[in-house]
Amino acid sequence: MSRQRKEQGFAFGITLIGPQTYYDWHQHPAVETYACLSPESKWGLNHAPLTKRPVGTVILHPSNAPHAMETGEYPLLAPWLWTGNIDSPARMEGSGENSPQ
Ligand SMILES: [Fe+2]
Repeated sequence: MSRQRKEQGFAFGITLIGPQTYYDWHQHPAVETYACLSPESKWGLNHAPLTKRPVGTVILHPSNAPHAMETGEYPLLAPWLWTGNIDSPARMEGSGENSPQ
């Protein structure tokens, strides 16, 4: 008898982050896709410097790839989709804490 873990699924929602907010590096097994609907937000992947992404950009975070976001003058509104292993929570880097996304 083998134990099998649920590795397929999806979840979706909407992220709203206030202005002048830094969402620190974190990672999770789920593949994450965002649609950036706000101006002036910065996004980073694999510890590369965060860069501004224009409104309408689709942003992909591969499974277990570290990523971070930062808002500027405006709040960030971004619908998101998780696929794959959605049962394992996000882990904030350096803290060992879990994050809801
Ligand atoms: Fe994420």
